[in-house]
Amino acid sequence: MTTISRITAEDRPAWDALWQAYITFYESEVPADVTESTFARILADEHLHGAIARDSDGRAVGLVHWLTHPATWTTGVYCYLEDLFVDPGARGSGTGRGLIEHVRDWAHRFGATKVYWLTADDNATARTLYDKVATSTGFVQYEIEL
Ligand SMILES: CC(C)(COP(=O)(O)OP(=O)(O)OC[C@H]1O[C@@H](n2cnc3c(N)ncnc32)[C@H](O)[C@@H]1OP(=O)(O)O)[C@@H](O)C(=O)NCCC(=O)NCCS
Repeated sequence: MTTISRITAEDRPAWDALWQAYITFYESEVPADVTESTFARILADEHLHGAIARDSDGRAVGLVHWLTHPATWTTGVYCYLEDLFVDPGARGSGTGRGLIEHVRDWAHRFGATKVYWLTADDNATARTLYDKVATSTGFVQYEIEL
């Protein structure tokens, strides 16, 4: 039985391991001060929110982070799911689906009118899950680094 709950200060060591594995998955690096700030803002639970999944032995097996923002196409807010990761040893047993459902339920209670996220076009594993729980919009992402 996997439980999903809001991230608390006691989750820091487990969150660190999952966060670093997620960054490694993206072959990227995040400066230590950014990681500190990210965890602090998740704990504050004001602008950034996070949940952690633990298996029946209490082992941390996944994380999800999200935020809300106003939008011109609604009087309410949209919910953006920014990070999703499941430990490779725990994949394929519903944790990823459960983490997305957790955000959807939270966003529904919060009054958001939709949950959305981005993924790499070639992330076939993630897209197998996403195609089951959400609708692909066909939008393409552009950005300008500053
Ligand atoms: C994407 C990810 C979060 C999925 O987590 P997960 O716990 O394995 O997903 P689930 O077990 O909830 O899978 C849900 C569904 O997707 C399908 N699925 C998941 N992985 C699959 C795979 N490798 N091949 C085929 N189907 C797969 C399952 O069949 C399942 O469907 P079902 O519930 O109807 O049987 C996980 O693979 C991961 O962390 N990947 C690396 C990081 C990443 O890509 N994050 C997303 C960035 S946008």
